Amino acid sequence: MAKLREAILQDKVLPQIKNREIGSRLIFFDRIESTNLKAKELAKEGYPSGTVVVADEQTAGRGRLGRNWYSPGGTGLWLSIILRPDLPAPDAPFLTVIASLAVLEALESLGGKEEIGRKGQVNKGLEIKWPNDILLEGKKLAGILTELSLSRKINYVVVGIGINVNQDFFPAELNNIATSLKIKYKKDQDRLEILKKLLVSIEKYYYRLLNQEGSQLIGEWKERMNIIGKEVNIHDNEKVYQGRVLDIAERGELLLESQGEVLRFWAGDVSLRTRPELRK
Ligand code: ATP
Ligand code: BTN
Repeated sequence: MAKLREAILQDKVLPQIKNREIGSRLIFFDRIESTNLKAKELAKEGYPSGTVVVADEQTAGRGRLGRNWYSPGGTGLWLSIILRPDLPAPDAPFLTVIASLAVLEALESLGGKEEIGRKGQVNKGLEIKWPNDILLEGKKLAGILTELSLSRKINYVVVGIGINVNQDFFPAELNNIATSLKIKYKKDQDRLEILKKLLVSIEKYYYRLLNQEGSQLIGEWKERMNIIGKEVNIHDNEKVYQGRVLDIAERGELLLESQGEVLRFWAGDVSLRTRPELRK
């Protein structure tokens, strides 16, 4: 923790990673309600694209759909990035896509792919759970919460990323669904190292997106999911749609074949559950 705090406060991260944009300003808090909330405030005040807010502890970390995100001090990486891409509003889902690809790349570059779980071995290692979770051996290791200010174009985006790094255990209600790198690999991981790798990867994927590589990125994203052909339930408010996942479409929407129809779901407002009775 001291290392993370010091490096950030002494402004040493950016010169080390040599990014052009992401991390150009790094703001650190020992404890804050939520880095997403803070980043949204800063974005409204005009902070530049690439500003990163990092906290050691969040007292009211948030997930999608108003859920809580457990963010104890000294253990995880809790951060939010302000981006101001020159993109039309319908392209907003791409920001979650690049964040999840960047999280995978950063984690896979730690201690070699063999250890962390590599491409093509989705069930054994890391995989993306549509639309915003990163699973390690089926348990949630990281989550992404993308929040937007839109007009016809994107005004700004806050991409919030939470990675469970050095937790030894989770509260009972999360015990069966959450995991950390420490629980899996039985040793402490260096959060500063992960942060630096992550910022480098995010910049790389972000610039690819701005360079019109959106459809290629969706292809790479899809490859890291283990969902096509699976029987699932999609929860949309009170409604539950049952069906088989046909594909992921051009902006990351999920296409579900349900009762002879093809339904299209956007990431923003629905939850996906693999049907237990049919789980392979
Ligand atoms: P969805 O399929 O909709 O993504 P989800 O249950 O994964 O469903 P999210 O909104 O993505 O929901 O994530 C929030 C949920 O993650 C919380 O309700 C809680 O169950 C779980 N959670 C909270 N904190 C953590 C954490 N640090 N690590 C892993 N999981 C967590
Ligand atoms: C989810 O799985 O629903 C997304 C979880 C996102 C958690 C991160 S931690 C940093 C940032 N600040 C927050 O309050 N949430 C995100």
